[in-house]
Amino acid sequence: MANLQGKRIILGITGSIAAYKAAMLTRLFIKAGAEVQVLMTPGSTQFISPLTLSTLSKRPVYTQVTSEESWNSHVELGLWADAMVVAPLTANTLAKMAHGICDNIITATYLSARCPVFFAPAMDLDMWTHPSTAENVERLRLFGNYLIEVGTGELASGLVGAGRMAEPEAIVSTLGRYFRKADTLHGRRILITAGPTHEPIDPVRFIGNHSTGKMGIALAEEAAARGAQVHLVLGPSALATQHPRIELQRVQTAGEMHEAALSVFPGCDAAIFSAAVADYRPAQPAEQKIKKSAEALSLDLVKNPDIAADLGQRKTAGQYTVGFALETQDAEANALRKLERKNMDLIVLNTLEDEGAGFQHDTNKVSLLRKDNKKRSFELKPKREVAADILDELQELAAWKKDGL
Ligand code: CTP
Repeated sequence: MANLQGKRIILGITGSIAAYKAAMLTRLFIKAGAEVQVLMTPGSTQFISPLTLSTLSKRPVYTQVTSEESWNSHVELGLWADAMVVAPLTANTLAKMAHGICDNIITATYLSARCPVFFAPAMDLDMWTHPSTAENVERLRLFGNYLIEVGTGELASGLVGAGRMAEPEAIVSTLGRYFRKADTLHGRRILITAGPTHEPIDPVRFIGNHSTGKMGIALAEEAAARGAQVHLVLGPSALATQHPRIELQRVQTAGEMHEAALSVFPGCDAAIFSAAVADYRPAQPAEQKIKKSAEALSLDLVKNPDIAADLGQRKTAGQYTVGFALETQDAEANALRKLERKNMDLIVLNTLEDEGAGFQHDTNKVSLLRKDNKKRSFELKPKREVAADILDELQELAAWKKDGL
């Protein structure tokens, strides 16, 4: 059971059939010790009555910015709250939030809120998979808001697929987890390498790999949410991230990544190497585009610096390094050898054997192997939760603060 003792939560309810679950959500927040201020869009009141929610929350429910007798100050509400949760969030309100439209009490409060904002979308399959919805979700994520993933199953329309609002229990435990971890990395500096590297062959071609940078970005966002100052060195990735505590440095090659990592590592408490660094690079990138002529072409490759191994050698007492291993055979033994060779404290092992794990997925399935031979294995989860597990393990082995409440 999550502990939300004394936390002030704004619950925004929008007009989806999933609004019926908002009664249970309100009840669970109250049971966990939170104060809940419910805000509703006019459309949502057709799905569930404000009276139900005001009875459960023990406070008046606001459905308008102004009513006949009062002005419900969205600015004050935004300052009052420790967290704002919009659940269920319709495609319509999502689009408004993504574009700064404030035409009702929820969207106006959202724009004024200084607290963390969580959003639990609920919509039908085709609306959820529409590219504009995906873009709007990504925009909110980039604003630093927290997506509470939709579930998959039967939808109100009778279609079966993704788009169902997360269950109230899952929403409450997401907030519980957030507050438990909130300041546990305050004052720590963490270096994270992420994404692929591109090693130029000539001005238009390169050697690269399928890494997207998702895992490293998830780690950076989770560490920043826990209060750490993060230096994220990101190879060529289509993704971005934005958080006041994440300093994002973009690089192309392993050499540039190495240089960037070397210069910040001395001031860091930990480094996490999630980048898929090219082991070799063309010895002499051609200055002009290589023309097609001979039947075969050989490229001379030379070894790239091993960033994890180099920083592992340089680390001093009180500094920790965490690496990744992607193995296709003898996974555990190989990962442990890597941990030893690169002088790491923790290694995250993933195999490509698991459906939904590794490159290009939003989920991952990992085992964490520690220098002291402790091992923990996890099921397939969203990368953000995998990031939370990795940071929990780092905080435990470094004997840093683990619980904020
Ligand atoms: N790594 C790094 N610099 C490199 C290569 C790897 O920092 N030049 C880091 C990766 O970010 C990862 C860990 O080392 O955290 C292991 O990467 P991996 O490619 O599995 O290791 P390699 O040493 O390249 O071993 P392999 O022979 O299996 O490719």
